[in-house]
Amino acid sequence: MVEKTIALIENRGAPEVPDWTEIAARNPGYGGTVQRFLDNSPPAREVYYAMMLSNASKGWTLDRRRTIIKLLNEASKGAGGASFPGFLANIRDLHLGAMSNEQRASLADISGENFNPVPDFELRPIAGPGRSWTVDEALKHRNYRKADFENGRSLFFTTSCGACHRLAGLGGDIGPDLTSIPNKFDDEYVLTAIIDPSRDISDQYGMFEVKLKDGSSKTGLVVEAGDKVSIYPPDHTAEPTVVPASEVVETKQLPVSQMPPGLINGLNPEELRDLMAYLMSGGNSQSKIYGK
Ligand code: HEC
Repeated sequence: MVEKTIALIENRGAPEVPDWTEIAARNPGYGGTVQRFLDNSPPAREVYYAMMLSNASKGWTLDRRRTIIKLLNEASKGAGGASFPGFLANIRDLHLGAMSNEQRASLADISGENFNPVPDFELRPIAGPGRSWTVDEALKHRNYRKADFENGRSLFFTTSCGACHRLAGLGGDIGPDLTSIPNKFDDEYVLTAIIDPSRDISDQYGMFEVKLKDGSSKTGLVVEAGDKVSIYPPDHTAEPTVVPASEVVETKQLPVSQMPPGLINGLNPEELRDLMAYLMSGGNSQSKIYGK
């Protein structure tokens, strides 16, 4: 079965794109995700095969595992929902987990890709000069009609929001996806979240201190799965600590956000306006925010 299915993956044609144009047009917020998927569809059927094949315990060669990893790398260049990169990473982990250390080492050249989508446009340096922004001061610079969409999009990454948040399909997945901001929040809420992140923290994303049996303690975002507990440290480039659930003595939420304060203090008023307009548009250059 593995041999036959690997052959289907290797000899795949172009992805079959469903006829979802009407669905994409229904809602300017969520529809954008659907439209990006239609414009840049990943090999969805073969990704499904790869997931099912992770259950097969016989019939594997190193080349067949290589085919799977390459497929997932290619799929990550296509567009999907916010959880898509995480699903791909899970499928990859299932395959890597079934291999010996030696086999994993020989696929290390292709198995380390970051599946989170990265911007394909040029990032501009922050001009400044910055200041210590307060919510009241920031609210005085709301002439979003004058805002520059591309500059705001660039600032989303240069002020490092994109390291933790996804917006319009781009960025990381440590914090919530911000694409639906226009449907949920006003700009005062958003500015408060940026300037004073610890004022209001949802327990889904809060920072926790985890005490372990060996007397050590770890701080970060806690994800429990099966009998394993993963603790993701605040530095989003660092690897999580994974321990068996039985090692955990106590978990308590800390009254601080994982989101660092002061991220926008390098921006001048026009830059803050551009970033805010980008956020309040949900990453959509055709938004009413820009006076269109
Ligand atoms: C180190 C990771 C990190 C960075 C960098 C970061 N955030 Fe966050 N952000 C989070 C997390 C985690 C949460 C959810 C927990 C909380 O509210 O503190 C959050 C919450 C938010 C919220 C509230 C969302 C809601 O649903 O209530 C907004 C708005 C936000 N961030 C915007 C931004 C912007 C804009 C930037 C860049 C200037 C940014 N964040 C940078 C991690 C980050």
